Amino acid sequence: MSAVVFQQVSKTYRTARGPLQALREVSFTIEPGEFFGLLGPNGAGKTTLISILAGLSRATSGRVCVHGHDVVDAYAMARRCLGIVPQELVFDPFFSVREALRIQSGYFGLRRNDDWIDELLVNLGLADKANANMRQLSGGMKRRVLVAQALVHRPAVIVLDEPTAGVDVELRQTLWQFIARLNREGHTVLLTTHYLEEAEALCHRIAMLKAGQVVALDRTSALLSGRASTMLRFKTDDPLPASLADMARVTGRIVQIKAHDALEVEEILSTLRLHHVAVEDLEIGRADLEDVFLEIMQADTAPAFLDHPSPLEEVPS
Ligand SMILES: Nc1ncnc2c1ncn2[C@@H]1O[C@H](COP(=O)(O)OP(=O)(O)O)[C@@H](O)[C@H]1O
Ligand SMILES: [Mg+2]
Repeated sequence: MSAVVFQQVSKTYRTARGPLQALREVSFTIEPGEFFGLLGPNGAGKTTLISILAGLSRATSGRVCVHGHDVVDAYAMARRCLGIVPQELVFDPFFSVREALRIQSGYFGLRRNDDWIDELLVNLGLADKANANMRQLSGGMKRRVLVAQALVHRPAVIVLDEPTAGVDVELRQTLWQFIARLNREGHTVLLTTHYLEEAEALCHRIAMLKAGQVVALDRTSALLSGRASTMLRFKTDDPLPASLADMARVTGRIVQIKAHDALEVEEILSTLRLHHVAVEDLEIGRADLEDVFLEIMQADTAPAFLDHPSPLEEVPS
């Protein structure tokens, strides 16, 4: 049985400015033991999808099941399988860290959970904060407590919504070591992140969400190899010839151009020579997930059509 099934999930928010469709028929399945990444720019609908999974928000249509339990009809059973680390830092300021974790254990009917709570505290670098009051903790420490809270009942499926946004490198490393261990021990992980290098390193499969729709879904290795696989990076002060400017990503003096194979690399280099573009610090490397992400996110959008008008791909009016 699948760990998580999203079946044609749509969500429309009623807002003061009219209806806003945050999700459009999102369907995908996460298998037990997978480390699954959900990527997408701000506003793509990632948090909306996770709050529907968590039972905090209702889908307008479609359904979601966790280990066979419908998140609406069998909320308690589904919730028991889930450990959710929310994007927002929400916590009760009146309790100590240990008290907060005991209370959370109580919600799941776990009375004697201190051995596991201690293990969580140690693995998340919170051991010396066990008796500190929640309101005394820094943002990074609060984030650790949220992770610990999500894990008190040893959920089969761990869901992390941007867990490393704005946190220090040390916590990122501690967190990933621990989550990767839990994944090796059989826990399923669903992660949303802005840090594409984290997703590339950790996730077996990745879905990319854009304006509420799944626009890519594949094994991480297939996403990386299926597209332009080579990236030329160099610095220059000279203008690029139009034929290259169209395909280049330019950040200040840094130019990045994708190539599909060695022949294309050769062509790009000879075009640069032909136009007397002085190139510094030339590197030829493998495209990474960020390159793939940008390529997918830039495709099929109105602004992209302005740059590359194509009569075959009119935006429907
Ligand atoms: N409670 C809400 N009410 C109205 N609109 C919302 C609400 N939550 C999110 N949205 C809108 O839904 C879209 C998706 O948001 P969200 O799921 O938070 O995206 P992400 O997590 O990918 O950044 C955005 O346009 C956002 O403004
Ligand atoms: Mg979000």
